[in-house]
Amino acid sequence: MATARLTFDTANPIGKINRRLFGSFIEHLGRAVYDGIYEPTHPTADARGFRTDVQELVRELGVSAIRYPGGNFVSGFQWEDSVGPQAERPARLDLAWHSTESNEVGLHEFSDWLETTGNELMLAVNLGTRGTLEALQLLEYTNLTTGTALAKKRAENGRTSPFNVRMWCLGNEMDGPWQLGHRSADDYGKLASQTAKAMRAFDPSLELVVCGSSSRHMPTFGEWERVVLTHAYDDVDYISCHAYYEERNGDLGSFLASAVDMDAFIEQVVSTIDHVKAVKGSNHTVNISFDEWNVWYNDRFEQVDKITGADNWPTAPRLLEDTYTVADAVVVGNLLISLLRRADRVTSASLAQLVNVIAPIMTEPGGIAWRQTTFFPFALTSALAKGDVVQTQLQCDDYATKTYGTVPVLDAVTTHDKESGQTTIFVVNRSVSGPVQMNFDTVSLGQVSEATAQTLSDDDAYASNTMADPYRVGMASNGSLTFNGEQINIELPPVSWTVITLTVAPNA
Ligand code: AHR
Repeated sequence: MATARLTFDTANPIGKINRRLFGSFIEHLGRAVYDGIYEPTHPTADARGFRTDVQELVRELGVSAIRYPGGNFVSGFQWEDSVGPQAERPARLDLAWHSTESNEVGLHEFSDWLETTGNELMLAVNLGTRGTLEALQLLEYTNLTTGTALAKKRAENGRTSPFNVRMWCLGNEMDGPWQLGHRSADDYGKLASQTAKAMRAFDPSLELVVCGSSSRHMPTFGEWERVVLTHAYDDVDYISCHAYYEERNGDLGSFLASAVDMDAFIEQVVSTIDHVKAVKGSNHTVNISFDEWNVWYNDRFEQVDKITGADNWPTAPRLLEDTYTVADAVVVGNLLISLLRRADRVTSASLAQLVNVIAPIMTEPGGIAWRQTTFFPFALTSALAKGDVVQTQLQCDDYATKTYGTVPVLDAVTTHDKESGQTTIFVVNRSVSGPVQMNFDTVSLGQVSEATAQTLSDDDAYASNTMADPYRVGMASNGSLTFNGEQINIELPPVSWTVITLTVAPNA
């Protein structure tokens, strides 16, 4: 069996883990909202029409901030349509997803829902078909306590205290030709800077996210970030990154190495941020909001699911309802490792998305809600990654991929919480053929009182959870772990994601 050696250095922290790394995303798209989080006729629905079984799973998943209401949807959205008496709200065309938006759920209902799940709202403004004025009006509506027509309107609509939204996205994927109101980097950079300055005239403490590239493979990638930041550097706190991965042409080996692309994406955007910072001589540091990331079988959407037809605008159609496999979960676990590894500069991230739409949680109208395979690495990473990310090194074999060249078979990150003494190692085995025996030393931690490991793997890398078989895939205790008081040995099966938790005895 192949062997590997892991080392970590808890005395050498890379960065504090920001809870916002465990954010997610709900867009008015497909059945994310309607028949997803909201289904008034469902047996578990609460008084406002939200499914409580879904709320429980959202809490279990452990997500922090939730980005809303889009996505591509936001670039055609008129926020005023989604407030006020529900019966009077207009149905509108959603050009991004070729659907009808009823506006039955809007800002107030979604905020109520967030209160039940304990999540922070991260709100996106429409800089596609709208501009600075509408962004300012939305900000005044959400955040001004009292004294103007818009603050009064909010109170009349049932909310006397402001929503006090802290984090705002200045549009969505404005580099994408598919985006309503798509602009050049120069035009968008000016608009973003102007909108950010205006929003900060209202409240300088707002946290603002400017749009970066919608993929590292956009033809404008790199130059887009440089130009946009040249306009808006001192006006914003974050630049966004978006990345989706899928297995193509049966090339599982390359797919399992997707995190290599995310690592490069992060490094290159950090370099571009720091370049603009240097040119400007700024003291301010912009960080990354990786506010859309996941596995997404986008080719299937483009070729099979896309809705067309001038008379065909369904409400809450089944769109982007990917069923995730064990391999997909291993990739998601590895992407989380990449995000954590740069916790010093990636201080916000959103798993895209949360319910039904490329989601860890699925629902059936009138029926059950269940956890996809990708639920598990996210939930456990969110629950167990605490304190600081620390330097982690691996000596292991490489393997050849068509897409990324030669890459290490294993990838890992370690977190260390000084207060509780807990050290956690997240590791993936990307080999499709064989297990790896990994070992590491625990002496530097003091006396480890408990070492446990859980692994997600399956003889069938394409196994998944479905409505008919919702518990087919899950976490299992890794019984191969041995600990002699100084060394841990553990077998990592092929195509697997593992979390190892080490607890240090008090006063050790
Ligand atoms: O998450 C699905 C879509 O992916 C979002 O609407 C868009 O921002 C991205 O292209």
